[in-house]
Amino acid sequence: MAMKKIDQETVRKILDAADIVEVVSDFVSLKRRGANYVGLCPFHNERTPSFSVSKARGFCHCFSCGKGGSPVGFLMELEQLSYVEALRYLARKYHIEIKETEMTAEEREAATERESMLSANEFAMEHFERNLTDTDDGRDIGLSYFRERGINDAAIKRFHLGYAIDRSDNLLAAARKAGFSDKILINTGLEIRTDDGRMYDRFKGRVIYPVIGLSGKVLAFGGRTLRKDKNVSKYVNSPESAVYSKSRELYGLYQARTAIAKKDKCILVEGYMDVISMHQSGVENVIASSGTSLTEGQIRLIRRFTTNITVIYDSDPAGIKASLRGIDMLLAEGMNIKVLLLPEGDDPDSYAQSHTAAELESYLQENEKDFISFKTSILMRDCGGDPIARSKVISDVVRSISVIPDMITRNVYIGECSRKFGIDEKVLTLQCDKLRAERAANPRQAREQADVEQPAGNTLQAVPPAAPAGQAHLSHASGERRAKMLHGFEREVVKMVVRYGMVDLCEAYDEEGNPSSMKLIDYIDSELSVDEIRFDNGACRAVWEEALALRHATWPQEYADFLEAATRRRSESVAAGEEQIRREAVDLADIKRRELMLLDSTEATYAREIEEFASMFLVRYLVNSPDDNIRHLATELASNRHELSKIHSKYTNLGTERDRLPEIVPQIVYALKSAILDYNITQIHGEIAARQDEPGFDPTPLIKRLIDLSAMRSELAHFLGDRIVAPPRKC
Ligand code: UTP
Ligand code: MN
Repeated sequence: MAMKKIDQETVRKILDAADIVEVVSDFVSLKRRGANYVGLCPFHNERTPSFSVSKARGFCHCFSCGKGGSPVGFLMELEQLSYVEALRYLARKYHIEIKETEMTAEEREAATERESMLSANEFAMEHFERNLTDTDDGRDIGLSYFRERGINDAAIKRFHLGYAIDRSDNLLAAARKAGFSDKILINTGLEIRTDDGRMYDRFKGRVIYPVIGLSGKVLAFGGRTLRKDKNVSKYVNSPESAVYSKSRELYGLYQARTAIAKKDKCILVEGYMDVISMHQSGVENVIASSGTSLTEGQIRLIRRFTTNITVIYDSDPAGIKASLRGIDMLLAEGMNIKVLLLPEGDDPDSYAQSHTAAELESYLQENEKDFISFKTSILMRDCGGDPIARSKVISDVVRSISVIPDMITRNVYIGECSRKFGIDEKVLTLQCDKLRAERAANPRQAREQADVEQPAGNTLQAVPPAAPAGQAHLSHASGERRAKMLHGFEREVVKMVVRYGMVDLCEAYDEEGNPSSMKLIDYIDSELSVDEIRFDNGACRAVWEEALALRHATWPQEYADFLEAATRRRSESVAAGEEQIRREAVDLADIKRRELMLLDSTEATYAREIEEFASMFLVRYLVNSPDDNIRHLATELASNRHELSKIHSKYTNLGTERDRLPEIVPQIVYALKSAILDYNITQIHGEIAARQDEPGFDPTPLIKRLIDLSAMRSELAHFLGDRIVAPPRKC
């Protein structure tokens, strides 16, 4: 096969056409943020987006792992393409014709083995496709099989379905003729060499499902037998190779990626046919794990596009129970999972084939359940009135809840679980926190359960260890222990400040009863000051103090300047609009109407600009701070600020983090205060226990203090209770 190279003029054209946002979007779901776009970095596993794409600069960059680059650089790195391959990819994407010149010997040499394997696969795919439509066997056996299963031509084309002729060298002969070396054909797994050196086709007399990677490259094949014979294995699949790692691909993702990103959700099924049938009937956001349980690599792949997964099961109870564990892994990765059970005897394929698209959609919508309640009901079904079995189920469900990284989501589920089992929320929370603390204390186990980067303190892992009686003298180490215990809580508070510090949290009233708004940072400042709370953690304290300085020293002037400019822009645009109205309006009523519209829209723009300025103010300074501590922590906390916590469950109405600030922020502040009280209470308990045998020791003052602290704690709980029921309009 002759290798070609691309001439310089075409290279220029391709590079000019390539738009970094469009290129990256084929692999990563991007959201606009200011002048840039952000998404989850495809080069490393992350839960909050640090991958930033600048359209203007034609460049992408991961602030966390440092990878990225130009369109070509991005493709080369991500898809392990050569420079020429990346250019070809772009040329195809932008419909630029490549005028090719023959490659020199060295250049041919330089074409990597990977590249050759991919082109061998591409050749094979096209060969199988041609077999299906252009040969008698293909039509009589392969095509008629697909017809029988209700697959239409469009789906055949879209999924590049094919047929492997039932002969040992059908592909081999064609591939050799096209110039592919035996070595390459063996490396891809298309051919198998026997011990005596004979070569034969791996896929024979089977229909072919190519596995296509995100870049559109053919990576592997699945071949299904058409025989009923139980001795023939149902599927033959390509082996692992330099271009195919089974645990890192998902069948159908290439065809489903746009729909997944658009719907912000994907549906997971088992088999090739399930994907194709559902896709054909109009539900396109479907992928298959191909018979095995999901791997972390696959979850990461999905996460580039969405965090919402619906897993479809056919209603085989044994299979369902076996797979429940695997789903905990999805939970731990921060995925929002729903589960759908099909009617007795159906699989996704048969259901899609026997129902209209509308029926399928509405079945999906009406029957998907959130995973926790699904798991609960499946497990409860079997335990009847047996209290021991029942308590095992509860533990199991709480264990699932405990792996969920997001605190708010956990709380929602705990509430649900408490209602369902009639058990006090506090008890469940306690158990949940205990499990988390255990995992935090045992990182190996934690990693097994959830191999995700878990920034220290992001969770409530700072659960107070029960103070061992007798050794709780206010020891030298106690300051350190306190800092460690509170770190997670402090971090949550600082996170809110970094993300939303200058946002108006709620309406407040001054002494005269005039309404004025209260900024989030001011609310937190007043809450902390009242109780004289300082952050123990150094980085948290540094960020907090810097934020306060910005708020008081920098903000007033900058805000005034900004306001002046924004006001000027507003009056300019009103003036321009009026000018236009005078030119175009037909009568007085028309003028009135247009003027109203003009005022509305300029007002809206004005308000939006101000809001944007306020919400970006702190974070912009903090993430660019020359102080390493401040910059690192702020960058970490700021990520993902616009799309966090869309809770994908029946609680969808909870809305975004931004909308729920009046509810969330007091809760987070409360959690910190309450943790501090808990710590103090534990300390005193410990001290009493340690000193009770001392002659002449009078515990009365300590007990008094204990009573005070407990009273404060329940006051806090009461205060918080009010907040939850009615998010404050007044602070
Ligand atoms: P299924 O047996 O459910 O396959 O296995 P299917 O795709 O629905 O096929 P039909 O409907 O019987 O034609 C689910 C998936 O498990 C993998 C395949 O990826 C299959 O799609 N599998 C199954 C294998 O890899 N090898 C096997 O022997 C069986
Ligand atoms: Mn099937």
